Amino acid sequence: MTKDSGYLTPQKKIRIADLKALKGERPWAMLTAYDYPTAKAFSAADVECLLVGDSAANVVFGYDSTTRISLDEMAYLAAAVVRGAGNALVVADLPFGTYEASDSQCVATATQLIHRSGAHVVKLEGGRRMAPRIKALKDAGLAVCAHVGFTPQSVDNLSGFKVQGRADAAQTVRDDVRAVVEAGADMVVFEMVPAELATEITESCPVPTVGIGAGAGTDAQVLVWHDMATMFPGGHRPKFVRAFGQVGQALTQAAADYKKAVVEGDFPGKDEIF
Ligand code: KIV
Repeated sequence: MTKDSGYLTPQKKIRIADLKALKGERPWAMLTAYDYPTAKAFSAADVECLLVGDSAANVVFGYDSTTRISLDEMAYLAAAVVRGAGNALVVADLPFGTYEASDSQCVATATQLIHRSGAHVVKLEGGRRMAPRIKALKDAGLAVCAHVGFTPQSVDNLSGFKVQGRADAAQTVRDDVRAVVEAGADMVVFEMVPAELATEITESCPVPTVGIGAGAGTDAQVLVWHDMATMFPGGHRPKFVRAFGQVGQALTQAAADYKKAVVEGDFPGKDEIF
């Protein structure tokens, strides 16, 4: 417990205000996490913000689309992340089909996700069309992250994984960001937006912007950890991903070494028994 901590608060949590204060000072990092051990590892690396993304549909559950994940699945993952997050801020995605129909549906789903997981912020996809939902969430007392540009839950509606906001479409992204910020969004993810546009919008945006495939001019960066650390070697790597490690290869090698030791009768050894 730190001296200035609150009642039963083991450490100083990173709050949205702390991330807002970094605007113009230095970029900060968001990384996806979907379970307790990765949350602990990323928090130990001082990653400021963990995103329980609905990309879990693909990288955890093996579905072919983020539209397939359920609220139950998200809630279990988010709860595990919160338990391992240390002082990192935890953002959790609202799953497709659980918030779009009405403000009351959106608030009920978000409240349930927060109750069940302890996550600090909910994220939802969409620009102007989601502004009323964001206002309803704020009125209900929740912290909100908006997600504009390419929105994976709408991949079929957008005819595939395409950069959003090129040429004349730039105004659409500007209008989307203005609408979600006016509605009360506390931060905004920009996915697959031209770097110049993301930088321009960030400069006049009062809340933190978080880029993925949006260049170096946003206030923060986010990556799916399986991409960042190459969990699936040989898989498709989007242009905006940099590999910071070879975790999949290391895991397969460890499993192969274990299997070999078992088969050869080398494990367990005399120091590994009671
Ligand atoms: O679900 C997710 O991981 C996301 C990131 C790609 C921003 O929304």
